Amino acid sequence: MAITTHYLQELLQRNSIIDVIGGHVHLKRHGRIYKGLCPFHSEKTPSFTVYPDTESYYCFGCGAAGNAINFVKDINGLTSIEAIKMLAQQSGMPLPDEDDKASKIKSRIYEMNKLAARYFHANLNSEKGKQARIYLRQRQLSDKTIVNFGLGYASGGWDLCNYLKKKGYTEDEMVAAYLAGRSQKGNVYDIFRDRVMFPIIDLRGNVIAFGGRRMGDEGGPKYLNSGDTPVFKKSNGLFALNLAKKSGKDTFILAEGYMDVIALHQAGFTNAIATLGTALTSQQVKLIGDYAKNVVIAYDSDEAGQKATRRAMEMFTKEDVNVSVLQMEGAKDPDEYIKKFGSNSFELLINKANSALDFELQKLRKQHDIKDVQGRVDYLTKACELLASHPNPILQDIYCGRLAEETGAGKDSIKLQLEQAKNRFYRNSAARRNKAMMKEGLASDIKVDYRQSGNTVPKVLAQQQIVSALIRDNDLLPIVEGQLTETDFTDENMKNAYVRFRELKAENQTVGYALLYQFLDDDTRKSLAKINATLTDIIMTAEDLQLHIDKLKAAPMGQNEVKNASLEELAKHIEKLKEKKK
Ligand code: UTP
Ligand code: MN
Repeated sequence: MAITTHYLQELLQRNSIIDVIGGHVHLKRHGRIYKGLCPFHSEKTPSFTVYPDTESYYCFGCGAAGNAINFVKDINGLTSIEAIKMLAQQSGMPLPDEDDKASKIKSRIYEMNKLAARYFHANLNSEKGKQARIYLRQRQLSDKTIVNFGLGYASGGWDLCNYLKKKGYTEDEMVAAYLAGRSQKGNVYDIFRDRVMFPIIDLRGNVIAFGGRRMGDEGGPKYLNSGDTPVFKKSNGLFALNLAKKSGKDTFILAEGYMDVIALHQAGFTNAIATLGTALTSQQVKLIGDYAKNVVIAYDSDEAGQKATRRAMEMFTKEDVNVSVLQMEGAKDPDEYIKKFGSNSFELLINKANSALDFELQKLRKQHDIKDVQGRVDYLTKACELLASHPNPILQDIYCGRLAEETGAGKDSIKLQLEQAKNRFYRNSAARRNKAMMKEGLASDIKVDYRQSGNTVPKVLAQQQIVSALIRDNDLLPIVEGQLTETDFTDENMKNAYVRFRELKAENQTVGYALLYQFLDDDTRKSLAKINATLTDIIMTAEDLQLHIDKLKAAPMGQNEVKNASLEELAKHIEKLKEKKK
């Protein structure tokens, strides 16, 4: 039975690892990961770890690892095919051999959306897009922002339909993608006409839908959004989640509108997201909770916005996401606020919104009698410990001031105490991290700063970092492809992973860890699982990646590598040495 990668992609997408494993293991959230007692070996403290980011799990105790398919297979003692069928049934997918038609239309829609996004973007830079360019300028968006969000322009007329037709897509396909509508006479027409276009991109980098804003006062609703399609459910969608996830922050800002999010990102708040013109749903709340510990709600300041805020606050609280509310005065929404008062003022609003901290401080305050000297000292010590775990210096400074006022102690001495608490806090967390890695045996690799020169960093670490970066951010592939070939990967497992990854990339938009895992041999799986688990908190930029590539290219061959190298590799190595001498 042939199972396409698209099918597996979809299967893994629909069966979230948390749901699948949560049915067997009691999981507790720790930031972006979940932990529980390993079902594959007996233990008293949880070392079984689940990573929603990469849809995978890893047990630091026994090394059990994999994706949702693997888990179902191992826990129920099934074959892979049986596990796949079981997951398909549970998530209402057709069984693999019946699936061809459904998965085909999906991949056609992904392709069309991608083409459409590129087409709209190209329009913006063409003669047709002049008005739209002026509009975006008026709204003070920079070119960088326009590119970052892939904004575009849908011209009037039937342009997109004609373009997609030329590319070989049928009218039915365009209608299914919600890019075209059908008139009563049966003709197709562009749904988005004369609008500024906002592509909506999922966590895998696929364009899944669009929002379009009219530029004038007339021409239908202010914003037009894609309806549900086989690849998009409006009530689950979040605008800019792909970017917010990359920001690496564990707090997200939830705004109401597209333009708010864009203005926020432009002002440096790259952790802003928004729903797509619908009321917040519990699926969205869960999804946000998978990537953020805290949410700051920054809805419009009008009555409707405030009502929605109260509702959202309750929903987040129910899902155990820390939530705080931003109070804006003198502006209707974040977009307007930032234009009027600047991003620093907005930052202050965010810090003020931190009601969770207020809440905890109040609790402490109630536990101590600050009229008593010892009570005051204890209160300040505890309060500083609490503040130390909040890594924002502006916030810390503000609270030091408040504590000084409240207790009558000098602000400077409180700050001194905070510094000590911070040192303790960082020492402790660094020690915890090191210990965890030590246990893993990877510590010798990881704790060496990769920026360090010389030959202390094993080549294999660079390869691991490169492969891991590619899996996390597929967009980095061109950087690697441009500089390395397969033979640069001297570690057999990393070479395998890299080769498979590229093969899958050739036929898929996005290749994540869980999908790649499905196509690896046992040895490579093991090696990659460990790396994935250990590097989970590391966010790699193109710059970091370049350092690893340089490292890999520069590192001289060690004795063992020379012994094991093929003639071809040796020849290459000698060439490199010669070049260096020149
Ligand atoms: P707003 O009317 O507050 O728009 O709608 P906005 O985000 O401030 O946009 P600008 O600044 O006027 O351009 C908030 C959100 O509600 C949805 C959109 O997602 C919008 O971003 N909406 C609004 C629609 O879906 N359709 C509409 O006609 C209006
Ligand atoms: Mn607005």
